[in-house]
Amino acid sequence: MAYISPSILSADFLDIATALRALEAGGADYIHVDVMDGHFVPNMTFGPGPFRDAHKVTSTPIDMHFMVSNPGDYIEAAAAAHAHYMVVHIEADDHIHRLLRAIRDAGMHPGISLNPGTPVSAIEAILDEVDLVLVMTVNPGFGGQSFITSCTSKVAFLDNYRKEHDLDFIIEVDGGVNVNNAYDLGLLGADMLVAGSGTFKDGLEGIPGNIEAIRDSLVRGRSER
Ligand code: DX5
Ligand code: ZN
Repeated sequence: MAYISPSILSADFLDIATALRALEAGGADYIHVDVMDGHFVPNMTFGPGPFRDAHKVTSTPIDMHFMVSNPGDYIEAAAAAHAHYMVVHIEADDHIHRLLRAIRDAGMHPGISLNPGTPVSAIEAILDEVDLVLVMTVNPGFGGQSFITSCTSKVAFLDNYRKEHDLDFIIEVDGGVNVNNAYDLGLLGADMLVAGSGTFKDGLEGIPGNIEAIRDSLVRGRSER
């Protein structure tokens, strides 16, 4: 299990369909869709709506990351866009247990994310409710930021926690991920890496090679655990 989920945030927004096809052809395991509302984070992207027809151009499953206030308002739209994972932030809702249940009831896999400043203990009580934990290694809002190394201790904690409690959630890391830190993330127990600039930095032609290089580092790290 070593998945790469390239972020569509780094694609050309005027030509998303071409990017979706290129990601599938380039070996992406998931497509990471960053929903931002200009309130929870100081940037806006899109809602789930524009991705309603994405399944017509790609069969790669969608990993939808909600950097929004009131994520519960988007459950129906995320399900209509065939999101495989609907990932919400622990900081965004006071009734997280109910929200995660509602996501599962809508037919999606619930995921929980935490900002760099949020301790991992904040999600401990609901870890048995999620299929995925997304550890942010930048402050959410923008692509192309520098990796915050101190956040990686959360990955090690989560990996130990799931072993001790016999849980099987996936650990995903998002923000500033590249070929240089993928190895360490694998060593710590990460299963899935988001990469926006790391995937798109050499244009569409560079996608297959960049995905492969990041996956190779992740796999090497994981195999040396
Ligand atoms: C940041 C987003 C990330 C972003 C990652 O707010 O959640 O998914 O697209 O971009 P890179 O890989 O460029 O840091
Ligand atoms: Zn993201």
